[in-house]
Amino acid sequence: MEQLLNKIEAFKKELEGTIAADAKQVEEFRIKWLGTKGVVKDIMGEMKNVAPENKKAAGQALNEFKIFAETTYETLKQSAAGSQQSTATAIDLSLPGDAMPLGSRHPVVLMKNRIVSIFQRLGFAVAEGPEIEDDWHNFGALNLPAHHPARDMQDTFYVQQNPDWVLRTHTSSVQIREMEKGKLPIRMLMPGRVYRNETVSARSHCFFHQVEGLYIDEHVSFADLKQTLYFFVKEMYGKDVKVRFRPSYFPFTEPSAEMDVTCFICGGTGCNICKKTGWVEILGCGMVHPNVLTNCHIDPNKYTGFAFGMGIERPAMLKYGVNDLRLFSENDVRFLRQFTSAI
Ligand code: DAH
Repeated sequence: MEQLLNKIEAFKKELEGTIAADAKQVEEFRIKWLGTKGVVKDIMGEMKNVAPENKKAAGQALNEFKIFAETTYETLKQSAAGSQQSTATAIDLSLPGDAMPLGSRHPVVLMKNRIVSIFQRLGFAVAEGPEIEDDWHNFGALNLPAHHPARDMQDTFYVQQNPDWVLRTHTSSVQIREMEKGKLPIRMLMPGRVYRNETVSARSHCFFHQVEGLYIDEHVSFADLKQTLYFFVKEMYGKDVKVRFRPSYFPFTEPSAEMDVTCFICGGTGCNICKKTGWVEILGCGMVHPNVLTNCHIDPNKYTGFAFGMGIERPAMLKYGVNDLRLFSENDVRFLRQFTSAI
């Protein structure tokens, strides 16, 4: 009797480990275990050798074993059929996939990346800041106290919820945030979107983009500013481009200047783009005003610095021959798609 039970146990173990990958192996399984000369039939035959007092227990064990063999068979049959079905409906992996339409970089981003990469080669890192600014970072700290007439240079959007908040009119606000951190020297670029309350037309918009730069250390001079910007212009517009500085006024720099380059459309002979002057204004710059340094807790007797700021849309319009500023913000794919190759 014990021998019989051990045999059943061993067969059960064997059954548990059986797998069948396809219909053929399932049939082999059936013949081996459940066929007329199969294991189950064979072991059933051993009942006749069991002592009468053990017959009941042996019959029960054999019956259980038979059911176990049958259910294993059913399970194998189903899983083999399932896997066959899934092979039948499987996708042909050798087929080429559906091409996903590729997007393209926005021309403003392309131009921004170009400007940033030139200054990065001079060791400038990139800093960003919030587009909703408080009065202090957008105006006050930049030497534009309340009621300062130069606030009118930029028409400002105010935020209704809080009279102290504005949509930043320039990324100079990020310069203040960098200086306030108190880590010197600073050699940073501040690219970003800015807002001004202007009528939307082909030549002006209520939002546009700027890249500003700030360099603060001991002994930084106007000569450093000029050399840095010369390098930028040569890299950006080519070796033959001529440059001129015009004295200008910004409350946050002293002295201040604006920089022009020879018109890259007509080469300086005069055209509609440069209004027949042969020059195009590209940026504003200057030495950081001592009041601005003091506002940011930097000692103006020890440190000096220069700053500059330029728009991104205008050079992008000139480079890509775009004649309407509004195209940059309308997201018309027929316009945007034209820059795919420019990545
Ligand atoms: N913030 C000025 C503007 O938006 C541009 C500018 C001029 C930035 C001179 C500067 C600077 O950092 O030094 O018109």
